[in-house]
Amino acid sequence: MSFLSQPPSLHYLRDAYQSKFLIGTALSVRSLRGEDEGSTTVAQNHFNAFTAENSMKPALLQPSPGEFHWEEADRLLDLAESCGAVTVGHTLVWHEQTPRWFFETPNGAPLNREAALNNMQTHIAAVVGRYRGRVKQWDVVNEAISDEQGEELRPSPWLQAVGEEFIAEAFRAAHKADPEAVLIYNDYNIELSGKRDKTLRLMKRLLDQEVPVHAVGIQGHWHLDYPALEEIECAIELFASLGLRVMITELDIGVLPAQYQGANIQSRQTLTPEMNPYTEVLPEAVAQQQAERYEQIFQLFLRYQTVIDRVSFWGVHDGISWLNHFPIWGRTDYPLLFDRAYQPKPAFHALMGLEDSFSHSSTPLTTMAPTVLAT
Ligand code: XIL
Repeated sequence: MSFLSQPPSLHYLRDAYQSKFLIGTALSVRSLRGEDEGSTTVAQNHFNAFTAENSMKPALLQPSPGEFHWEEADRLLDLAESCGAVTVGHTLVWHEQTPRWFFETPNGAPLNREAALNNMQTHIAAVVGRYRGRVKQWDVVNEAISDEQGEELRPSPWLQAVGEEFIAEAFRAAHKADPEAVLIYNDYNIELSGKRDKTLRLMKRLLDQEVPVHAVGIQGHWHLDYPALEEIECAIELFASLGLRVMITELDIGVLPAQYQGANIQSRQTLTPEMNPYTEVLPEAVAQQQAERYEQIFQLFLRYQTVIDRVSFWGVHDGISWLNHFPIWGRTDYPLLFDRAYQPKPAFHALMGLEDSFSHSSTPLTTMAPTVLAT
């Protein structure tokens, strides 16, 4: 790891993008338990925004009413603050990794609206309140929009228990607990036309009601072949046209064969040898293809640097990526910038090389189309 001991400004990703946007990463449970020191070192050197991959989700923070487990979340804060990184909270209100007690009695009967809403508000007050002033950005509501055509919102336990207002109430509760925090609506596939339009409508409804939502988080679980850059660009323009900031919150570029495009964590397929072609090593040609894809995507991000505040990767290195287990259990994927030995990949070098081409221009938003919603 010789490059890690070089002067920061020449060798660290966070410095290469310092005047553009935050460059983030997600830290795994193992990392936050001190069981993957290599990841922690790479994170502290190269990234200036830290998200907990799992440790701040409701199931891990509050598995039963009033029983809080703060250790890993506290560790995330300590790690971030020791290297001047911004801490991002992920996530307050989601239909996954959320214990049933939020919406059900111990006997499995549904809670009434008031009780479920109270559970949500109490959770948000406790978690956001504890880290007030320290967690700078929160993914307040995660994945509330439906994947199904003709259906606006996902029929989640939150929607069933509280109704559509659960979204506005979550943002209000988070804002009340920390008025300075940047509050994000976060989702996958919202760069694609169907969910993009639903997201725009939802954000507009929230803004019309003066709900404190500040940014849209595009997760960015992408692939070598999808989505098209035009889709991503269109989404960034449209979200920004509402006056919202844009965050790329969970970026990875999978290189394995894919039948499923999305990040619904319930999606599962069977493991076959054809679906797991690179069990030993990533072929150089594929590594190059990935580097070019990352380069194109970052060129786009740089063009929109005035509306993008953060680009976060979903993990530090290939060995711990969730894509080794999603949507097929037990594959060997290579979606990130660092390999299993914590070494930078061609994609890393491509992104380090990009900075120069943009450092001399301030790149105004020439293609913004604020009128597009009216059509
Ligand atoms: C994933 C984690 O990476 C996995 O370790 C976990 O088993 C399931 O959740 N969208 C999100 C993230 O918002 O929280 C998900 O993280 C990936 C999809």
